[in-house]
Amino acid sequence: MTADLLAPVVRLAPAKLNLTLSVGEQRRDGFHALHSVMVPLGLADRLSLARAAGARDSLHVVGGVDGRTTLAAAGYGSVLAAIEAARRAAGRGADTFPIAARLDKRIPVAAGLAGGSSDAAAALDGALEAWDADVRSDDRLRAAAGVGSDVPFFLWGGPALVEGRGERVTPLTPFAGPPPAVLLLTPAVDVSTAAAFKALDTDPAAAPGSRGSTRLTSEHLAAEMGTGYPPLRSDDLIHRAGVLAVANDLANAADLIVPGLRRLRRALVRLLGRPVGLSGSGPTLWALYPSIEAAEEAARRVRDEDAAGRLESPGPGAPFVIATTIEGGPGRTSA
Ligand code: C5P
Repeated sequence: MTADLLAPVVRLAPAKLNLTLSVGEQRRDGFHALHSVMVPLGLADRLSLARAAGARDSLHVVGGVDGRTTLAAAGYGSVLAAIEAARRAAGRGADTFPIAARLDKRIPVAAGLAGGSSDAAAALDGALEAWDADVRSDDRLRAAAGVGSDVPFFLWGGPALVEGRGERVTPLTPFAGPPPAVLLLTPAVDVSTAAAFKALDTDPAAAPGSRGSTRLTSEHLAAEMGTGYPPLRSDDLIHRAGVLAVANDLANAADLIVPGLRRLRRALVRLLGRPVGLSGSGPTLWALYPSIEAAEEAARRVRDEDAAGRLESPGPGAPFVIATTIEGGPGRTSA
């Protein structure tokens, strides 16, 4: 079925959380070898793709988080780049007409939640559907990897172990039972992923506490979620929150780039009485909860604390605070 102006292809583009992020040495191509357990979240952008009236692909962005949406921010270029990558992958045989994309932005940008990469994966997949183009999954993956390191993960769409530069995606078993929930707090500061990796390579103060233990935690969680028998439940994840919260090799780099982030994290640990981790290169902080109700209650407390002026969150504005769920992936969405 091809898209026309009346029937756009619509995709949800979820945010992701790194439950673990182990970073190896820099490779010869400049990228770092990763070992990361990544999960998709209920928090999602919405992308719709239709046949463009004009001769070129176009992108219109609406929404945005507290004025943080700027076209200069990382990610938006990636939607058009992904449509172009999809066109190349579709080949000459397909009718790859120009696409008008509309992006309703709900995920904060440059936040460690990979919103831009998720938008790109949705654009790639959605454009191929709009054109009714038949492209083999390994060619899709290759096209996705060319757009950005986190993009292949979103093509799969469920919990996964992500390795290499990001192109090796091994599906993991979703959590059984009610989905685990997460409180996210994103300070009003952009962090460039490239800057965080650069700090890791060049500044001794950004060195991880212990690369070895992060790697072990990541391997252990991947093994537990990989066998799927018995599948982990929400409570099992909460029990592991303490080790997961320190299993991010980019945490010290993020603390260097965002003065005040470490202090905020400590304040949140005290306020919430539970471990607080960092997603990706930050600055988004997370805390795990057994249910969405518990995470929503925690989000209210954090917002009240901030409104009362007791939460010193870095950046010029209030932090973005939201409760959301960890999703099971294809066919397993709970929201
Ligand atoms: O691939 P992507 O554009 O998302 O990566 C942004 C930057 O993050 C890269 O330019 C690179 O500096 C860094 N990066 C890395 N190793 C990875 C992924 C990203 O060094 N595995």
